[in-house]
Amino acid sequence: MRLNMDDMLQFLVIFVSVLIIILTLQYYKQRWPVANFPPGPTGLPIIGTRLTTGIDFHRTARILAQNGYGKVCSFMLGTPMVLANDFEAINEVFTKGFDFASRRKSCYVSQLWNPKKLGFFNSDYGERLVQQRRFALSTLRGFGFGKSSFEGKITEEVQNLLSHVKELANVPQDLSKILTLSVGSIVLNLILGCHYDYNNKEFLHIVGAVEKRLSNFGKTSMVLSEFVPISRPFFQQSAQEMRDLYAEISSVIMSRVADCQKTFSADKEPRNFVDCYLAKMVEQPDIFTLEDLQYVLNDLFVASLGSTSNTIMFAILYLVANPDVQEKVHEELMTVVGPSRLPCLEDRDRLPYTVATIYESQRLAAVTPMICRCATVDTTLAGYAIPKGTNIICNTWGLHYDPEIWPDPYRFDPTRHLNDKGQVVKSPYLVPFGAGRRVCMGESLAKMKLFLYFSSLMQQVKFELPPGTDMPSMKPLPGFNASPKPFPVMINEY
Ligand code: HEM
Repeated sequence: MRLNMDDMLQFLVIFVSVLIIILTLQYYKQRWPVANFPPGPTGLPIIGTRLTTGIDFHRTARILAQNGYGKVCSFMLGTPMVLANDFEAINEVFTKGFDFASRRKSCYVSQLWNPKKLGFFNSDYGERLVQQRRFALSTLRGFGFGKSSFEGKITEEVQNLLSHVKELANVPQDLSKILTLSVGSIVLNLILGCHYDYNNKEFLHIVGAVEKRLSNFGKTSMVLSEFVPISRPFFQQSAQEMRDLYAEISSVIMSRVADCQKTFSADKEPRNFVDCYLAKMVEQPDIFTLEDLQYVLNDLFVASLGSTSNTIMFAILYLVANPDVQEKVHEELMTVVGPSRLPCLEDRDRLPYTVATIYESQRLAAVTPMICRCATVDTTLAGYAIPKGTNIICNTWGLHYDPEIWPDPYRFDPTRHLNDKGQVVKSPYLVPFGAGRRVCMGESLAKMKLFLYFSSLMQQVKFELPPGTDMPSMKPLPGFNASPKPFPVMINEY
């Protein structure tokens, strides 16, 4: 039988129609996986809701809220994503046992270097992660992590930073680099037991690689690769760069681990975190392996670097923009601590305005603006049905800028965190470290560092805009953590 042109056309029309129906049915099934799934735009097969919501979560959250989809809504970005937009919903995600304790499912970018989802950040919630977290936290605590016994080491590093900063007096400087080096040297000392000077080549190399990797997360090529799978072949070079950066950081870290291995003895007192991990590998070789150690060390280093220094840089930026607040913090420090010694943790309770200024900086900076989780079981959120494996995004940026909680939310005002008696009140709506089973592992260390760095800098030096310079932008740069655009400051000693 021979087909004429009309028959072929008819066949093609039927074929395309059937294909469209199948794709549409499949899409609907994926878009609305269960009855009572959170509301949101339906979107179209292949492109999902990208045309209405885009691929930027901030924009998406705003658009969905404007369209009246409520505080828990959904959109389609390859897979259905659920957005928790208000305090009740975010709190439910954080506190509902292990229901939302996994990380985002199939995160393409992180799988480029971590296909087995080892370490902390990208790991699914399960026995391996629970054991790794428990072991790491208790071991690091043993070395003073988050405890006052570690204070001396941080203060030593702060002193080192201050002497460098004072050398830069009266010349416009961007402090972010030196601050990152200072913060990085503390954590490397804690986990690897080595001390690096700021001009050590290996140290500069690894810190530079971490910074590049963190900022690459915000690059258009990586964002598109993550959420528009068909674009991936076009961005192979960027993907390779991410793998190479990870390999560079790992090779430095693992060569220090190899040094520890050469002199390690299970009978001797452990010298650092790595020694303890090597001993644990002998005790429990199924869960604690050299490969796990590589990801564990990488995560601890990377997690502590950007978040802490970016928060301090944002705080400096806000104080440059609000000299009256800077003056008040300095005055409080001079009254309570005086000029002859650096502030210490014991002073914290007697420095409410200083602590409130740190809180306000953390609120506005929102350095982790979106916390990504994933449902580990079929569950519910705000009464909506959430099937196992659904990606959840907690919009902590939205919570920190919610005008109903924080009137005039863009205004920098430390007194929001003080009561009528001038005492600090920690708001439950301030969640810079997340909460629940995946809460930040470095929270206590980060709080110590933020206080000691911030209060010492404020006591010793004054930050001002170089004459004739425009006020720097408060808008964060895209990346894994929010960071301020580089800005110059004049540093004047008191
Ligand atoms: C100002 C500083 C910091 C901020 C704002 C911050 C913020 C966060 C946030 C929001 C999360 C996700 C929490 C969640 O899902 O509920 C997180 C996870 C994590 N943080 Fe931090 N962090 C900081 C400093 C540190 C430091 C100093 C370390 C380590 C020394 C660290 C290690 C980690 C690790 C390992 C995780 C992953 C935990 C997991 O997935 O189970 N962080 N951090």
